[in-house]
Amino acid sequence: MRVGGQVVRELGSSVDDDARVEVDGRIVRPVQTHTYAVLHKPVGVMTTMRDPEGRRTVADLVRRAGVTARVVPVGRLDYDTSGVLLLTDDGETANVLSHPRFGVEKTYRATVRGRLEPGAVERILHGVRLDEGRASPAQLRVVAVRRDVSLVDITIHEGRNRQVRRMFEVVDHPVVALVRLRFGPIALGALPLGAVRSATERERSALHRVVDEARAAGAENA
Ligand code: URA
Repeated sequence: MRVGGQVVRELGSSVDDDARVEVDGRIVRPVQTHTYAVLHKPVGVMTTMRDPEGRRTVADLVRRAGVTARVVPVGRLDYDTSGVLLLTDDGETANVLSHPRFGVEKTYRATVRGRLEPGAVERILHGVRLDEGRASPAQLRVVAVRRDVSLVDITIHEGRNRQVRRMFEVVDHPVVALVRLRFGPIALGALPLGAVRSATERERSALHRVVDEARAAGAENA
């Protein structure tokens, strides 16, 4: 067994909760005790646990769904954005997943005003200039172009404030509705609006892989 890269041979050794423990070269984790809740956040709900102005928050929804753990949202969705939001009481996972450095991919379905012409798509693909620098999507797929609106799936790995809305504003196709379809390995799927489910075993393993990779990268850079 290795703990933090050091070989440990004594039976019954104790290790810190966040130690990197390897047995036969594989990372092992303690029995999972954390909560990973997946919410379909509706429009008109704040991504905070408390709102001084008394608006509805994601805390109201997770508590109503029976989640008693002290979870916090991982990253943020705007008040006027709906879609998949992960909440957890696992601080390390929350920190890593919301840190722009680790570039977790997020996919949004944007309904934008007007007929999206190939020129505007090209401009977004090449990266549009926002106040704080250039932003390019990881992927972009035009789903439908109608007379008044177009539907686009856009994947980004940054998380700048109102990033998707601002990217489409630059090309004169303001967003009229925004739904997050995917956050890293977690898909919105058919989860009803306002409902909460637990992350599946497969989703939790995928989340932990992201954290393990981030840890390993941190150790390399240390
Ligand atoms: N981009 C936005 O513009 N809004 C969100 O809520 C998330 C990403």
